[in-house]
Amino acid sequence: MTSRKPAPGELEPIETASRDELQALQLKRLQWTLRHAYDHVRHYRAVFEAAGFHPNDLKSLADLARLPFTTKKELRDHYPFGMFAVPREQVARIHASSGTTGKPTVVGYTRNDIDIWATVMARSIRAAGGRAGDIVHVAYGYGLFTGGLGAHYGAEKLGCTVIPMSGGMTERQVQLIVDFKPDIIMVTPSYMLAIAEEMERQGVDPKTCSLKIGIFGAEPWTPTMRRAIEEKLDIDAIDIYGLSEVIGPGVAQECIETKDGLTVWEDHFYPEIVDPETGAVLPDGEKGELVFTSLSKEALPIIRYRTRDLTRLMPPTARSMRRIEKITGRSDDMLIIRGVNVFPTQIEELILKHAALAPHYQLEVTRPTVLDELTVLVERAPGAGGADGDAAGAQLAHLVKSLIGITAEVRVVQSGGIERSIGKAKRVVDKRPKA
Ligand code: DLL
Repeated sequence: MTSRKPAPGELEPIETASRDELQALQLKRLQWTLRHAYDHVRHYRAVFEAAGFHPNDLKSLADLARLPFTTKKELRDHYPFGMFAVPREQVARIHASSGTTGKPTVVGYTRNDIDIWATVMARSIRAAGGRAGDIVHVAYGYGLFTGGLGAHYGAEKLGCTVIPMSGGMTERQVQLIVDFKPDIIMVTPSYMLAIAEEMERQGVDPKTCSLKIGIFGAEPWTPTMRRAIEEKLDIDAIDIYGLSEVIGPGVAQECIETKDGLTVWEDHFYPEIVDPETGAVLPDGEKGELVFTSLSKEALPIIRYRTRDLTRLMPPTARSMRRIEKITGRSDDMLIIRGVNVFPTQIEELILKHAALAPHYQLEVTRPTVLDELTVLVERAPGAGGADGDAAGAQLAHLVKSLIGITAEVRVVQSGGIERSIGKAKRVVDKRPKA
C-alpha cells in the first residue's frame, strides 16, 4: 500500500499546534459553550443550577467534571427541538437517528455548524489520504442519517469530485465504480464487503478496481476485518468515527500514515473517558466510556454526552491531538446490523403488534461468513395456530425490514420455546466469533 502522507503546509495549523495552544483554545471555547448553553437552553440552565454551577465557575478544563452528563434520554425528553440553543429559523439543517420508542433523536445545525462539520470532515478525508482532485464515491446513506451528507460536504470542501451514490442498489454501485473510477470510497465496512461480493459476481476482480482508499465507520469493525478488506480490494482501509449527537462523522479519524487509532479533532470536540459505572473521569490510557462536549456548535451545544462507546485516550502521534483506540464495543445493548442501529425494544414493539405472537423473544446475531445476520426467535401466542404464527412471523420480517431497515430471519417457535429469565431477559445472543 502506498501511504499518502500530507506534505507540510497541507495541514491546518491547529493539527500541529502545541498542547498548550490547543488547551488554551479548548478552554476558551468551552467557556463560550457553557455560557451559550446556559443562556439559551432551559434544560442546561436547570441542570447547571441544580449542580450549583455557573458558567463563570469554569476556570480550567478539569472543572467540566462538575457538570452532570447528557444522555440520549435528555434529547428524547426535549423532542424534537427543545435542546436547540438558537431560534428555529437559524437552524439550517436537521438530522435524526432512530430511537427505541419510535421517537428519533433529533439534531440541528446552523450554517456555521455545517461549515465546521464540513471542515472536520475535509480534515478527516485528508488524514485518510484524500487530496483535492480525488474522486470520492459516497455510499453512506443520504437523508436523516448523518453519514452521506457529512461525507459529501467534507469531500466537496477538500476539493474532491463527489459521487453521491448513497447506500443500496449494489449492482449500480459496482457499475459506477467501474465506470467513474473513484479513488476513495466512503461506506460502512460491512457494506463494502457486500459491494466487493457483487463485484466478484459480475466478474470484476475487486483488486483491479480504481479504489485506493476506503474510509469506513458508523459501526464497529475489527482489525481482522480491516486486513480482510485491504487484501480483498488492495486498498488502505481507514477508520472514521462520529455520532449524530456530537456532529455526525468526523469527530475522530485515523491517519493513513500511522493507522494507530483515531485522532480526536479536539479543537471542536472535547473528549473524556469515564468509568461507566461510577461516572468518574479516568486518566488517559484507561479504558472506559467515551464522553464528548462540543466546543463550537451553535444549534445543539452538547455537554458531557455519554456515547456508550468503550475505548481509551492515547497520546498524540501523527497530529498534535489525542487519539482513541478503535471502538469495537458499546456499554449498552444496541446492535448495529450492517450499519443500521437497532435496539431489541424496537423489535419488541413490532412483535407486540401481532396477536398471534407472544412477547417472548430473543435476537440472535451470527456471522456465518463475513456479514452479520440477525435472527428473531419469537414465540407463538398461546392458543394461536401454527399457520397464524407463521403468517405473523412473515409480517414481522416485513415490518422489521420496512420500519427498522434491516433484513432479519424470523423464526416462530412454539409457546414456551424461549428460555425464561428470573431477572433481566437475555434479549441478545451474540454468536459472532470474537475478534
Ligand atoms: O454513525 C455517524 C457516522 C457516519 C460515523 C459515517 C462514521 C461514518 P450514529 O448513527 O449517530 O452516527 O451512530 C453513532 O455508531 O456511537 C458508535 O457506537 C457507532 N460508530 C460510529 N463510527 C464508528 C466506528 C454515525 N468507526 C454510533 N467504529 C457511535 C465503531 C462506530 N463504532
